[in-house]
Amino acid sequence: MQRIPNKYQLLVFIFLINILSSQAQMLHKDYSSQADSVLQLMTLEEKIGQLNQYSNDRKNTGPVINNKNHLEEIRKGKVGSMLNVTSVSRAKQYQEEAMKSRLRIPLLFGMDVVHGMKTIFPIPMGEAASFDLELMRKTAEIAAAEASAHGLHWTFAPMIDIARDARWGRVMEGAGEDTWYGSEVAKARVKGFQGNNYNDRRTVLACAKHFAAYGVAIAGKDYTGADISENTLHQVYLPPFRAAIEADVATFMSAFNDVNGIPATAHKPLMRDLLKETWKFNGFVVSDWGSVGELQNHRVAANAEEAALLAVTAGCDMDMCSASYIGNLEKLVKEGKVDIAIIDDAVKRILTKKFELGLFDDPFGYNYREAELDDELINKAHRKIAREAGNKSIVLLKNNAALPLPGTVRNIALVGPLCTSRWDMIGNWGAMGKPEYVTTILDGFKTALPNCKITHIEGYDPRTNEIKELPELSGFDVIIVAVGEKASESGEAKSKVDININSNHQQLVKRLKEESNKPVIALVMGGRPLVFSAMEPYADAILVTWWLGVEAGNSIADVITGKYNPSAKLPMTYPRHSGQCPIYYNHKSTGRPWSKDNQYTSRYIDEDIRPAYPFGYGLSYTTFHISAPVLSKEQYGFNEKIILKTTVKNTGNYKGKETVQLYLQDVVSSVTRPVIELCGFQQVELEKGEEREIEFVLTSKDLGFFNIYNEFVTEPGEFKLFVGNSSENATMLKSASFYLAK
Ligand code: BGC
Repeated sequence: MQRIPNKYQLLVFIFLINILSSQAQMLHKDYSSQADSVLQLMTLEEKIGQLNQYSNDRKNTGPVINNKNHLEEIRKGKVGSMLNVTSVSRAKQYQEEAMKSRLRIPLLFGMDVVHGMKTIFPIPMGEAASFDLELMRKTAEIAAAEASAHGLHWTFAPMIDIARDARWGRVMEGAGEDTWYGSEVAKARVKGFQGNNYNDRRTVLACAKHFAAYGVAIAGKDYTGADISENTLHQVYLPPFRAAIEADVATFMSAFNDVNGIPATAHKPLMRDLLKETWKFNGFVVSDWGSVGELQNHRVAANAEEAALLAVTAGCDMDMCSASYIGNLEKLVKEGKVDIAIIDDAVKRILTKKFELGLFDDPFGYNYREAELDDELINKAHRKIAREAGNKSIVLLKNNAALPLPGTVRNIALVGPLCTSRWDMIGNWGAMGKPEYVTTILDGFKTALPNCKITHIEGYDPRTNEIKELPELSGFDVIIVAVGEKASESGEAKSKVDININSNHQQLVKRLKEESNKPVIALVMGGRPLVFSAMEPYADAILVTWWLGVEAGNSIADVITGKYNPSAKLPMTYPRHSGQCPIYYNHKSTGRPWSKDNQYTSRYIDEDIRPAYPFGYGLSYTTFHISAPVLSKEQYGFNEKIILKTTVKNTGNYKGKETVQLYLQDVVSSVTRPVIELCGFQQVELEKGEEREIEFVLTSKDLGFFNIYNEFVTEPGEFKLFVGNSSENATMLKSASFYLAK
């Protein structure tokens, strides 16, 4: 039965809320006593209500579980948060209902604002190719400004799962395969979304997801378990989450998968013990969509009640869409199966975030910027950053002097349905991005080259991929063809067994070359590393153009015309065959490392062991020479700075930017370590002929790893450092070695 507060209690409560929320403007961190004072007044039912999240019945991003109008439940205080509420008016309507509830606790509105809200930026993996952390912070900041103008408080981003298997469709949502780089990107994106103060109404709470090891995705299959060593878990998959906490991330999302025998949503050792106890994470954990209920499918719970018991005990504070908490926790507490302290802790974490956002002060505080939503063509300043992000995300893989386009070009063929597609440029998780905001590739070229004749040729049928009849091609000066994936082909539940670009697309590239005998430039679109060895010899230039968002057409035209000299690097290895997956540069050595002269080594009998394009690879229109690295000393103590210098020279004909990468090798260690691993990078922009010395500084912590007991240690001994402009090229250059003394 609901406990009605007496008049005195209500007055005290309202008084407290007023005092406390005026402080909310000044305090960023400590709302503990405020949250406690609200908690004190809550009935058990109301507490459980705070742990319950529903989706707007008009938009679902997972299997529909409980699709009804939730207004009445909100009024009864049975809902703490809503997701997928995309309009300000709808958010207001829900919040008004929450204000009719007994304690008037405001709702929290969340949504997947992954790579832009209205101004859609390149997909996260594309943007990660820029190796420009400030850019990633900035695009997240803009996404937050637009999301909060829509009345949202919270984004379910960034996805910081390390991903090594291109068959997994969700690789597009992350920063690729490298743990160190993934951790840097995690921090940049969290800072971008959240700004410096949760209370700033142009920012939103971020969510580090999916905790943990979702990216393991065995055989690339979405939702599969992660059966991996504890060492790999700590060394490879957990560091980006730790980094997100360093960046003050407000929330975590538990993953769908099982981690070494325990589904992540019921994983007490990971969520309660590691995340909350050891790492001292003070935000809250939301489940993934329905993942509490899915504990039954994992067969660790016989029914929804057992699922709720497992998840809440493990440290999952909010139930997204499975309604297992709201349906069962009250009974579980009353029967003594769930300690009320667990419920109180979860509620307090959620209330604290609502205080930090200033929602108790003004529950409608995020609903005042509607005017910003009306501009038809979206904010110009935001579009400018989207174009820059597009420029910096495009990776040049091959160039037989076909690019940049010579000024003599007058007659261009643009081939393929992707050249006129708007939807596909938005990619997956398009939030409120609309096709009409998109500059198509065709439009981008028409604007960039007003003196050229630009003809669009359909090339293939976008539904069947059948090659269409081709016109006479010999009259064109150059042929630019877009091939690869449609936006619907990468993302959640988009696993593939074959990551080859459709064979008809590849055949089309061959025919274009053979029938025109003109330079053919291939734009490889998609959300994941793809294999395209059949078309590779027929393309004079190949660029990875992902799905670049609203400015896709302009960004691509800028690079093709040379207005922007490509600078991006692959954040994930591109295999030469699907059968090589998972393939990643920082693999361990084996007892029989690959050697081309010895058959009893780690190799394939039917395919090269090496990838098509390695991690960190990407060309420019100019060339660079990176000199052999020089260390300040040969031996360092634990507290000394390790200083390495190298010189980069622009040896080509254009101004350009190089990303100099620093890789580390621990020569002998107590557990097996990767052959090399990225530990730093610097971007250097140089005029033609210019050279610059750059310096990297490491500390002994940068040399550390998780030992057999999963303790983070740095072991003395010999280390090698390599510099280069890709993971492959670095090991070919001369390395520098040093000793770390005891
Ligand atoms: C995804 C999450 C997402 C959630 C809400 C799930 O299916 O795995 O990443 O945040 O839906 O849309």
